[in-house]
Amino acid sequence: MDTKKRIITGIKPTGEVQIGNYLSVIKNLIEIQDKYEIFFMIANLHAQTVPYNPKELKKLTYNIAKSCIALGMNPKKIVIFRQSDIIYHPYLTWILLCITPIGELQRMHEFKEQSQKYSKEGIGTGILLYPVLMAADILIYNPDLVIVGEDQRQHLELTREIARKFNKKFGNLIKIPEFQIREETAKIMSLSNPYKKMSKSEPQGCLEIFAPLSVIKEKILKAVTDSENEIKYDPLKKPAISNLMTIYKYLTNKTYQEIEVEFKNKGYYQFKLSLFNAFVNYFKEARIKFNKIKNSEIEKIFENSAKKLNKIAYSNLKKIIEKTGLK
Ligand code: TRP
Repeated sequence: MDTKKRIITGIKPTGEVQIGNYLSVIKNLIEIQDKYEIFFMIANLHAQTVPYNPKELKKLTYNIAKSCIALGMNPKKIVIFRQSDIIYHPYLTWILLCITPIGELQRMHEFKEQSQKYSKEGIGTGILLYPVLMAADILIYNPDLVIVGEDQRQHLELTREIARKFNKKFGNLIKIPEFQIREETAKIMSLSNPYKKMSKSEPQGCLEIFAPLSVIKEKILKAVTDSENEIKYDPLKKPAISNLMTIYKYLTNKTYQEIEVEFKNKGYYQFKLSLFNAFVNYFKEARIKFNKIKNSEIEKIFENSAKKLNKIAYSNLKKIIEKTGLK
C-alpha cells in the first residue's frame, strides 16, 4: 500500500519558468520527489482568467512541463498534469461555488487587483470564481499538504473554509488540507526592481532559465545596483546587490560571507559576470535537455497523468455527488 503523503501544487502557465519559480518551488519538489506522492499541476484553466492568446497558452503549458523535467522532475515520480485534462475539477467547482458566499470572493486581493487592472476593457467572471476552482483542484484529491507562494495564502484560507463549510453541510467527506507557504525558501526579486518579486510583468528583471544566453547576460549586466560599488549582503540598505547575491548563493552553494570574501575589492561588474557564469554552469545540462524534449513526449506524459488522476478524482467526486443529492 502506498503510504506516502500526498502533496498538490500548481503553477499558472502565464510565463516561462524563471529562476524565481525554480529556486522557490521546483527545486524543492525535485528534492522531495522520492518521499512524497506529488501532483504537480499546470493550471491552464486559471491562466484563462485574464486576457490571453490561445497559441501562447498551449506553448507555455508544454514549455513549463519541459522545463520542470529538464530541471530534474521525474515524471515517473511526480504526476505532472494539465489542469484541463482532469474533467472533474470544473464539476466540483460548481458544487463548491454553490456554498461559497459571493462576498468572500469579492474580497480576494487577486480579484480586486486584476479586475482593477482590466477595468477599462472589462474582465470575465472567471477571475471572481478563480479561488473556488483552486479549492476544487485541491479538495478533489484529499491531499495532506498544499504548497503555494505567499500570494496564494488568501486563496488557501478560503479553500479550507469552503471545505469546512462543505463538511458541516453534507457530512465529513473532505479532508482539510494543511498548507505550506514557501516563504522561508528563496524569495527572488526582480533584477530591475529589487522591491518587486521577480515576474514576467517586469520582463527586463525576469531571468527565464531557458532564454537565449545573450538575453540572460544582458539582463544580468543591466540589473539595477545600489550605491557604493561594494559586494555586501544587506537586504535593507543594499536590496539590489543582496538579491543578486541570493541568486549567486543558490547557484554556487556558497554562503553570503564566502561571496563577500570572494568579491572583496571587486565591483558590481565583475560580480555580475561571475553571476552569469554561475548561471551558465548551473543550468548547462538542463538547457541541453530542454531542447531535446518534444511536445509529443509531453503530450504522452499528460495523457498518462490524466488517466491516473481522472480515476482518483472521480472516486472522490462520486461520494460528493451522492452526498449532495445529485444522485
Ligand atoms: N493559483 C495558483 C497560482 O497562481 C496556481 C494554482 C491553481 C494552484 N490551482 C492550484 C496551486 C491548486 C496549488 C493548488 O500560483
